[in-house]
Amino acid sequence: MNDIPFYKYEYAKKMLETELDILLSEFKRKHGYTPVEHVKSRIKTMDSIQKKLKKKGQIFTEENVEKYILDVIGIRIVVSFLSDVYDIVSLISNSTNILIKNRKDYIKEPKSSGYSSYHMIVLVPIYLEGYVEYLSAEIQIRTVAMDFWASLDHKMRYKFPERIPDELQQELMNYAEDIQELDRKMYEINKVVMKYEQERH
Ligand code: GTP
Ligand code: MG
Repeated sequence: MNDIPFYKYEYAKKMLETELDILLSEFKRKHGYTPVEHVKSRIKTMDSIQKKLKKKGQIFTEENVEKYILDVIGIRIVVSFLSDVYDIVSLISNSTNILIKNRKDYIKEPKSSGYSSYHMIVLVPIYLEGYVEYLSAEIQIRTVAMDFWASLDHKMRYKFPERIPDELQQELMNYAEDIQELDRKMYEINKVVMKYEQERH
């Protein structure tokens, strides 16, 4: 049964996309480059909203969706370098339109799976007739390397819903470390390149 007002989430997703678009254009105007490789957004399907509520022991109501499912709107921002992740984080933090509800830095502290990304739960205003409502959204910010890792991890979880075979799990864990190392090295090289560029101008 479709009794949650999906249109509100559509509005909030548009608001957030537009806000990010403007913030990133401003960044580009000021710094002369764009740190973003790509941005993807989605609205959670009714089916997975229902599954997640059930997992949390809650029944399917509009209030429970708002209270317990903070990622009905999801935006993923994929950037080139580690430093870009934190540039985007401060860009979003400085926005006066979006409120930040919580942050999780799985780059400083990766999850036990090896997963790393920077997560933010934000509140996005939507302007309805005569009042403002805030809806939450999840923003994930990660490098291309982290994105590559996460998509294989995701695929494996999907293929082995019961339990990922130990040897595969272990191998992927090792690659998470390789990727951390790679991100650090690429960041160092990029720093040298940027410095060289600055000195030439
Ligand atoms: P939910 O997982 O959404 O119930 O909330 P949470 O509070 O545990 O949020 P968390 O920040 O841990 O993760 C939310 C999202 O991050 C997930 O929906 C995934 O998109 C992503 N994520 C978290 N952990 C992993 C992981 O181990 N592998 C992959 N591929 N993605 C992950
Ligand atoms: Mg989780």
